[in-house]
Amino acid sequence: MNHYFITGTDTDVGKTFITSLLMKFIKQHKHQVLGFKPIAAGAEYAFDELVNEDALTLLESGNVSVPYKLINPYIYEQPIAPHIAAKLSNEKISVSGLNSAYSKISKEIHKEGYLITEGAGGWALPINDEEYLYDWVKEKDMPVILVVGLKLGCLNHALLTQAHMKALGVNCIGWVANHIDPNMDEQQENVDALKQRLTMPLLAVAPFHNEDSHAKPKLQIYKALKNVLNLD
Ligand SMILES: Nc1ncnc2c1ncn2[C@@H]1O[C@H](COP(=O)(O)OP(=O)(O)OP(=O)(O)O)[C@@H](O)[C@H]1O
Ligand SMILES: [Mg+2]
Repeated sequence: MNHYFITGTDTDVGKTFITSLLMKFIKQHKHQVLGFKPIAAGAEYAFDELVNEDALTLLESGNVSVPYKLINPYIYEQPIAPHIAAKLSNEKISVSGLNSAYSKISKEIHKEGYLITEGAGGWALPINDEEYLYDWVKEKDMPVILVVGLKLGCLNHALLTQAHMKALGVNCIGWVANHIDPNMDEQQENVDALKQRLTMPLLAVAPFHNEDSHAKPKLQIYKALKNVLNLD
């Protein structure tokens, strides 16, 4: 099974947006693909079940039909830091719990299929008082894609994330420049500054996309990610 972990420079930077495009691209190439959102804080009840928007988006972007709980094992109603939400629910998120959820979902995918995992928040996400989500990513040796949400402060976030990944020995295969703020000043200069300083390759530049814009983030991401994923 091919697996990738999608992280971001922060919450709300486009991890789900990019993950979903990536999954649709894999699907279009007739490969089996399933999204995994192991931890989600911020959920609502639908048909008596607590569900999270990101997990639903990933569920519908893939082509494997599985029960909701399999793609989103840790779910909390309040949109707060997950380890705090877990404590309030008398639960504990852990690397070993993530491993057992991962082994369950992996059984649904063939050897040639793809499992795309979306993190939660930014890179340094505490999951309990001792462990971080990146401990699990490191243990699983998952290739990581970093989504950089282009906004003021993203240079700091991106560079610190890269430094930490390097110190940990995590395999970050590249980054995606995601234009999330159409009013940001000097956008190209910021992308250039990041290109100069980030040592992993820039995989794709996703323009800001809305109903009125003529930008085509899907097309651009499709083209850019084709080689990375070795799809025919
Ligand atoms: N390139 C883009 N153009 C326009 N809107 C975008 C783009 N990328 C992301 N967005 C929008 O920005 C918002 C945040 O994106 P998204 O939910 O993918 O972020 P996230 O990093 O997954 O957030 P979270 O930390 O909550 O999981 C969404 O409303 C999304 O549609
Ligand atoms: Mg998300």
